[in-house]
Amino acid sequence: MKGLKSLFFAILIAVLLFSCAGPTTVPEEEAPPEMIEAPEEAAPVEEAAPEEFTVVVIGKSVHPYWSNVEKGVIAAANDLGIDSDHAIFFVPQNEDVAAQIETMETYIAQGVTGIAIAPSDPNALEPVMQKAVDAGIIVTTLDTPPVEDSVSLVYMGTDNYSAGQSAGEAMVELLPEGGTVGIGRGSDTALNALQRTDGFLDAVEGTGIETLEPVNDQEDAARALELANSVLSANPDLAGAFGVYAYNGPAWATAIKEADRVGLTRLVCFDATTDIINGIKEGVIDATVAQREFDMGYKSVQLIYLIATEGEDAAMSEMGVVDGIVDTGVDIITPASLKEYEAGLDAKGIPHEWDTEGWEPPQ
Ligand code: BGC
Repeated sequence: MKGLKSLFFAILIAVLLFSCAGPTTVPEEEAPPEMIEAPEEAAPVEEAAPEEFTVVVIGKSVHPYWSNVEKGVIAAANDLGIDSDHAIFFVPQNEDVAAQIETMETYIAQGVTGIAIAPSDPNALEPVMQKAVDAGIIVTTLDTPPVEDSVSLVYMGTDNYSAGQSAGEAMVELLPEGGTVGIGRGSDTALNALQRTDGFLDAVEGTGIETLEPVNDQEDAARALELANSVLSANPDLAGAFGVYAYNGPAWATAIKEADRVGLTRLVCFDATTDIINGIKEGVIDATVAQREFDMGYKSVQLIYLIATEGEDAAMSEMGVVDGIVDTGVDIITPASLKEYEAGLDAKGIPHEWDTEGWEPPQ
């Protein structure tokens, strides 16, 4: 009798323990009897089950450019049926390598499926990217390339050297007589800033264009404006300016307008956020190299999802990865091509907060 009683209590405790387990456990009424006898086997959690898939995209600074990347992340998550809690987007306020490393550490500890990062300093980020790979996490990069031989499986973004060359060629066309050109950029370590600058310098070399030493604002738009103002006041005849990051063009545009030099200091920049398009419409920005940042966000999620669900080889061929790179491409926008650019975005269903209604390019 005593033996029977203890058996009864043992079963009761086992049943109670089992019914108090977390949400991943099979509900009590559906549990087969052997699960009650062996509760340690009762809660199989499928590692790569679709609801467990989590992708994290880490950008570089708070800016509409990065909001467009985030829109791409959200659109891909919707299309792939990934719950919004499982497609996470993070950017620090300004260029902040420590915050990027800390964010990587957080998501490594959570054991997410994949991380796509735009490393503000590729050398500083590589060890933590390696740590993520060692923990079984898929690591890719977007917008900003990693170090050579990085653990990043794929770089998804612009070919920055050739995009910088396109910017330089646009400047050469604007300044056939040459002149002094200032350069404003948001990093002295991020490879996209360095490669764009190199491409630009190579394209203007041998022409009458002289470039000033690039000024670095560390992705701080207010600082970018201060620097543009001071370069302009130190060089009142500045013939041209090159804005390397998305907010640099608008910073130069403000400085040029305040110095009353619209049309006298020619401006070439990167990206196609609303303030840049407004600068083109106003005639203060002469040309911009528009990146396809929505695609960078969208395709990074898609790539990591495909690697997780179909394996690396299938994912690479489906996404058209060549030598570890998906070149997302650029569009060169001038006042003459702005309307055509807008029509192209509309045809692809890519959201943009500006429009050209009521505006016509100058003849
Ligand atoms: C660059 C990003 C940068 C952004 C800043 C873009 O041109 O590709 O790396 O963070 O500008 O707004």
